[in-house]
Amino acid sequence: MSLVLNDGERDRAGARLLALLDDHERGLPTSHLLPDLDRPRLTELLNTPMPDKGIGVDGLFDEIVDTVLPNSTAVAHPRFLAYVLGPPNGIAPYAEAVAATINQNCNFWQLSPAASVIERSVLAWLGDVVGFPSTAGGILTGGGSLATLTGLATALHDRAPDFRATGLQGGGAPLVVYTSEEAHRSVDKAAVVLGLGIDHVRHVPTDDRYRMRVDALAEAVAADRRAGLRPFCVVATSGTVTTGSVDPLDAIADLCEAEDLWLHVDGAYGALFLLAEEKRELLGGCARADSITLDPHKLLFASLEAGCLLVRDAAKLRAAFAFSSSYLTVADDPLMTDYMDHGLQLSRDFKAFKVWSALRAFGVDAFREATERCLDLARHLGERVEATPGLDLLAPVVLTAVCFRMRGVDHTEVLATLAAEGTALLGPALVDGHDGIRVCVTNHRTTKADVDLIVDRLRELGKSDDVAEGVLVS
Ligand SMILES: Cc1ncc(COP(=O)(O)O)c(C=O)c1O
Repeated sequence: MSLVLNDGERDRAGARLLALLDDHERGLPTSHLLPDLDRPRLTELLNTPMPDKGIGVDGLFDEIVDTVLPNSTAVAHPRFLAYVLGPPNGIAPYAEAVAATINQNCNFWQLSPAASVIERSVLAWLGDVVGFPSTAGGILTGGGSLATLTGLATALHDRAPDFRATGLQGGGAPLVVYTSEEAHRSVDKAAVVLGLGIDHVRHVPTDDRYRMRVDALAEAVAADRRAGLRPFCVVATSGTVTTGSVDPLDAIADLCEAEDLWLHVDGAYGALFLLAEEKRELLGGCARADSITLDPHKLLFASLEAGCLLVRDAAKLRAAFAFSSSYLTVADDPLMTDYMDHGLQLSRDFKAFKVWSALRAFGVDAFREATERCLDLARHLGERVEATPGLDLLAPVVLTAVCFRMRGVDHTEVLATLAAEGTALLGPALVDGHDGIRVCVTNHRTTKADVDLIVDRLRELGKSDDVAEGVLVS
């Protein structure tokens, strides 16, 4: 059997795909947030051998519609407000299809000339949003965690002169990285993967608004220097994963300058709120970073995956990742970039295309408005929580994460009830030792009516026995 679709099969695949996209869009508001899992069917799926003779286009689409879709989580539902997970923007499926069709290998420009320019233009636009100079460069990654790993690797190459030759085996005092108690675990993960060891990650205490304490950072750096260790990097967070707090970026940047430390900002969740006028001052210090993590699959609503690392001085990124090899004969071209020299991967997909397509199709204003809408909704939710007896905010609402607790209930049971009845998918919160509920409005489909519906239901649940009576999923 040929691996190419014939005319009739292409027609069928196109028609089935269009129908699927249309049904998905129309069905979203009433779809189950969490699927009513059909375990026998999933077990059958697991155990069904791959067929020697294929099931064809219609057979495949039947399986997708009957098995895959009903057992998938509706992350684009307007009341999917758990974690930091934006629903894809509307052009994403089409852009993904085009990217798969031309299947550019975004490693060196001969294999992907237009793609190379598009990635460069997306990175330049993101650099402008952050306020980076024209010397900046970067790379799109599989997400924020990989961006931070790539950023820390760049910092190591820059601050540990023999790192390329000897890694961390060359002797010398251990290198130390500083982040806050509220930082995302991807910082720890990167430190472990790079061989720094978790013992050399300092989790600096935070203030009463969950921001890194600069006095404590300065003390930790000084103590490590006295102990003969080598502080080399601070990872500040512009939008912590639990409460959305923003570390005091300017003060941290001042300290990094004074102490000659690399400043990486983890802006995976929060930095792209720079698109919203009202957050420019709060997040302005991002511009002073040596490197920054962004996550277009969050606030630019790109379909998964699309993370981004930007480095103030692109030459430093290349110094960390460029290796010449005899089997790749690449001639330099001033218009284009060889992204294999900017990160870990050689073969790379065309992530920039979906980001670029959305910016072109909808325009930047649409993204400014979407981020502003998310901020407005989070503020509204915070106000409603404060005004509702029995609900207490656990942290100030700085960006779009709203953490609160309900008095007299089991939060896990409330979350399960809301999910099971289709009201909303919210997340758990643990703030300063208090457990509670976390709502994160990174959803461009959410409306004020959705937020009100959730608060009204929480209010009812707080008063009634529904939760205890077991309208629950476990
Ligand atoms: C502050 C922060 N950093 C890093 C990450 C990890 O990003 P990713 O899931 O894209 O790897 C997240 C994810 O929510 C985050 O909120």
